[in-house]
Amino acid sequence: MGRGEFVVAVAGATGAVGREMLKTLEQRAFPIKAIKALASSRSAGTTVPFAGDELIVEEMTEKSFEGVDIALFSAGGSTSKQFAPCAVKSGCVVIDNSSAWRMDPQVPLVVPEVNPQDVDWHKGIIANPNCSTIQMVVALKPLHDAAKIKRVIVSTYQAVSGTGQKAIVELETQVRQLFNMQDPDVKVYPYQIAFNCLPQIDVFSEGDYTYEEIKMIKETAKIMGDDSIKVTATTVRVPVFYSHSESVNIETEKKLTAKDARVILSQAPGVRVYDNPAEKIYPMPLHAAGEDDVFVGRIREDNTIDNGLHLWIVADNIRKGAALNAVQIAELLIERDKVRVVA
Ligand code: A2P
Repeated sequence: MGRGEFVVAVAGATGAVGREMLKTLEQRAFPIKAIKALASSRSAGTTVPFAGDELIVEEMTEKSFEGVDIALFSAGGSTSKQFAPCAVKSGCVVIDNSSAWRMDPQVPLVVPEVNPQDVDWHKGIIANPNCSTIQMVVALKPLHDAAKIKRVIVSTYQAVSGTGQKAIVELETQVRQLFNMQDPDVKVYPYQIAFNCLPQIDVFSEGDYTYEEIKMIKETAKIMGDDSIKVTATTVRVPVFYSHSESVNIETEKKLTAKDARVILSQAPGVRVYDNPAEKIYPMPLHAAGEDDVFVGRIREDNTIDNGLHLWIVADNIRKGAALNAVQIAELLIERDKVRVVA
């Protein structure tokens, strides 16, 4: 297969993100010599689509990574903890979508539009950040460079696909059940998600913040390389299939007018300004789904403080929030000649 240079594995190839990783590799004509689709023993022998063909899914084992150059992992944190080190031992560079390695000081946490230089110091594993963090930092980095962000207050409206394939099925099933006057099956989330909003993503932790909120706070500092930016977050699951939305309020050191912010963002890589209130133009999850860009709209000044701005940021959580960002990291590795493991 292929005329490219690299042997690639997708670990978690049957999942919502894994399937999108395969699609993204194909769409971006990634230089693939051979490709492996890996998942659990449950799906060994089934197939997943790739480049107009079907790949036979293999069970992931410690030997799966022999001869593999780059592995894109999206198979959950515990699977990644178990298999990523074996992959690295086989000389394979791992780009991991789980939260298992993100805060490890030996592991770069990379959003190519924000901190591409961090791939240079990888020791075999590079972490893909949390989906809600990725889209926020893509939009905030150019504003930070221009005016230094002091504080961020973010509230998210996150799609069920962020929880994986089983949550997509749960929302569909609940909607069908409710329209048929049946009690909805509640398995994935603590409460019914259809026609509801759940102000809990992941489990509660320190200070009654959820892990998702803590991830947004800590990951933002690591990616932006700046501990001085104060971030606080409330993360909410909403009955949307694809694309996360975020209401983001920032306070900057230097004044930025809404017009300044629009100009800066319209020149920023990976960002599409979609903002014309007079024409009812603003980003929405239905429009962002399937797109690569991070959409920003509702840009306006917050007059309750001296240097404040409101933004509404929407992106496809499975694409830029996961699969696309991971493939972009793989492309960066090639560009910067870093497809090799240096202990
Ligand atoms: P499988 O389909 O065989 O369970 P999602 O996030 O959409 O739920 O997908 C999770 C992905 O991670 C699936 O491809 C799933 O495979 C894979 N996975 C889960 N546990 C393991 C495991 N122990 N070994 C390999 N792959 C796993």
